[in-house]
Amino acid sequence: MDRKFYITSPIYYVNDKPHVGHAYSTIIADTLARYHRALGDEVTFLTGTDENSQKTVDAARKSGEDIISYTDRLAGVWKSVWQALNISNTDFIRTTEARHKKMVEEFWKRLWDNGDIYKGRYEGLYCKGHEAFMKESDLVNGLCPDHKTKPEHFAEDNYFFRLKRYEKDLSAFYEKNPNFVIPENRYNEVKNFVSEGLEDLSISRQVQKWGIPVPNDPSQVVYVWFDALINYVSAIGIEQWEQHPADVHVIGKDITRFHAIIWPAMLMSAKLPLPKQVAANGFFTVNGVKISKSLGNAIDPIGLAEKYGAEALRYFLLREIPYGEDGDFSEEKLKERYNADLANGLGNLLSRIMKMAAMANIVVPAWDAAKLVKANPRIPRFMEEYQLDNVIEHIWEKISQADAMIEEKKPFKILKTDRAKAEKDIILLLKQLKEIAVMLEPFMPETSEKILEAIKTNSEIKVPLFPRKQT
Ligand code: MSP
Repeated sequence: MDRKFYITSPIYYVNDKPHVGHAYSTIIADTLARYHRALGDEVTFLTGTDENSQKTVDAARKSGEDIISYTDRLAGVWKSVWQALNISNTDFIRTTEARHKKMVEEFWKRLWDNGDIYKGRYEGLYCKGHEAFMKESDLVNGLCPDHKTKPEHFAEDNYFFRLKRYEKDLSAFYEKNPNFVIPENRYNEVKNFVSEGLEDLSISRQVQKWGIPVPNDPSQVVYVWFDALINYVSAIGIEQWEQHPADVHVIGKDITRFHAIIWPAMLMSAKLPLPKQVAANGFFTVNGVKISKSLGNAIDPIGLAEKYGAEALRYFLLREIPYGEDGDFSEEKLKERYNADLANGLGNLLSRIMKMAAMANIVVPAWDAAKLVKANPRIPRFMEEYQLDNVIEHIWEKISQADAMIEEKKPFKILKTDRAKAEKDIILLLKQLKEIAVMLEPFMPETSEKILEAIKTNSEIKVPLFPRKQT
């Protein structure tokens, strides 16, 4: 049986460092990657940076650096943030790498040979923030509703991709694969959009100099989205993709059409298999406004990780928002959850159980971690449906149950009067704690490891797992 699992996050623009909204998509992907690893799958988890954008040129100019050193520096910043957040990616792709350029050229050739690329004239509006064309009807008071900027008027000769040719094939594919896009409302949006009719897509730029040159026409560069989507194949190579395309592209909802319409059409034209799923998460807002670099309300995940710990940030982001929905971010709520769920809940339970285990000098049985989790049918169901918040809630129910058991049975008290009974209770509590730690691994890997280590060595907790935050 093929136990491979290939998961990707979006690749991020390097015009700035990550904010908490970017961290959200990557953390979701990481949680799924870790879960599949725990199931014994051979996981490839790809993230990276999308560098061939005009935004990169503008940002480098603004910072006074030459563009190569700028992109090198920013790619380093993104890598270090993912490291600090315990992201377990197995590869990191930059679209300025040779392996990627080669694959973009290969795609261009395949689509060209298939008769799907032609030269035409493009005239219309372009939003730099989106790196996408917009229609008059998309604008609000003449401005892009997301970036609050006025799109530029564009008129130039471009190469076009015959996207329209794939309308029927795409619609048939969606009908056959109702789980191709999740959540369901996004799937319906995509289906409706395609059924209303597609237009061919301009896939090159004449005025831009930064980017991958169009094969056989160096006066143009490849359109950054056409270029970026190909990263998912560049990283693993065409043969690998043919054998096992991505199981899931984890993305934010705003880039669903690129992934669920344009990308499959490109793959069809290139005669390559399609990814199995596109999973679109909702947005984080601050006071109801989308977090974005261009709007200046970005929240730095590293600042939060330094204050509360990367694990607490991961916990909060995954617990607070039901998958697919939008949610409002507030540090106040993060602190509340930290104190209530982590310091009082999990941290306290660990301290209490380990104290009793040390008092009773228990020899801890070596339960098989995988077996403990497989015995719980709710986890796979929730995970498969991306109900990450429900998995966490389920784990916290177990924490409450263990707390209640300590209150009820008071094993620390009866240790002197009925040692055998107290020991039995403490061993049961240790088993529950181990189960909690194993279930928690995909969400809070470091915490899980610390708990498992404490159980294994039967050691009392000297430093609380999550010290309370006062201010
Ligand atoms: N470079 C493209 C993606 C190419 S993938 C082949 C891009 N980059 S981005 O840096 O602008 O955004 C990357 C991801 O972050 C997107 O999935 C986007 O939806 C997500 N988010 C950006 N702001 C966000 C929030 N405020 N909340 C949640 N996700 C957010 O688009």
